[in-house]
Amino acid sequence: MTNDATHRVATPRSYLMCPPDFFAVSYAINPWMHPGQPVDAGRAQRQWRELRDTYTALGHTVSIIEPHPGLPDMVFAANGATVIDGTVLGARFRHPERAAEARAYLDWFRGHGYPVREAVTVNEGEGDILVAGEVVLAGHGFRSDPAAAGELAAAFGRRVVPLRLTDPRFYHLDTALCVLDAATAMYYPAAFDDAGRAALASVFDELIEAKDEDAEVLGLNAVSDGRHVVVASQATALARSLAVAGFTPVPVDMSELLKGGGGAKCCTLELRSAIATTAAAEVIEAAEVIAAGEGRAADLDGAAAGEGTL
Ligand code: ARG
Repeated sequence: MTNDATHRVATPRSYLMCPPDFFAVSYAINPWMHPGQPVDAGRAQRQWRELRDTYTALGHTVSIIEPHPGLPDMVFAANGATVIDGTVLGARFRHPERAAEARAYLDWFRGHGYPVREAVTVNEGEGDILVAGEVVLAGHGFRSDPAAAGELAAAFGRRVVPLRLTDPRFYHLDTALCVLDAATAMYYPAAFDDAGRAALASVFDELIEAKDEDAEVLGLNAVSDGRHVVVASQATALARSLAVAGFTPVPVDMSELLKGGGGAKCCTLELRSAIATTAAAEVIEAAEVIAAGEGRAADLDGAAAGEGTL
């Protein structure tokens, strides 16, 4: 790649993840789920661990919540809550199959000393709620209620931009849009209405468009730290666009979890504290240098340079 990637700055993140110990496709609440189709539990575990190890190799912190039997979708931690400035707004699920997850996640946050606010209207956490700088983006149309926007504004004191989703395959906002940094996002335009596309153009200076084939492997269900973008390995054209825009794509294979309708971002809930500093960005550069001496991190570097698996 000939681009100059140095202007993209990573900041260390803190994530919450839930191991897929009870992951299964035992009901269908999105078009990706086919309960008759077999799920390879061992493969799901390996892919999930690879994702967790990818984050730690990049210098991020991963906390773990204990999975609950009978909650097969609990692995999709993004839906568990929304955390901004160290404050937690709990989730409230649309479907009864997932309802009990809200309590499990709230209990984790209470147990870890977070101030918690329980949700009144349906919101499926970071599945539909994304943060872009000072702005909160709130997806609705399939899962979260449009009225969740008011609750978000009250909980976090930030401007909330509602976005209506129109394609049932992209039923959560995080399947159709990925915030790369405060001014940059990648998205699938056809998953939004005209008002949504206009709103996104006003929030972001730069918008990378995903093609059908990359959106259809949930390539947009990616996780950015401002520089590295952990993205489905199948989304090859999207990875190239990211590299051209100066980001470092870090491919991961989440194909087993995709059977539940989720990818890397769905398995990841960001724990946003009130502090994000440039000093922290320097720490992550140092972490990368240290990690470069180790096997897995060397793979990441290869991916980062646009070689090998891309
Ligand atoms: N089976 C889950 C559901 O339909 C998948 C959730 C994916 N999570 C996400 N953040 N998009 O609710």
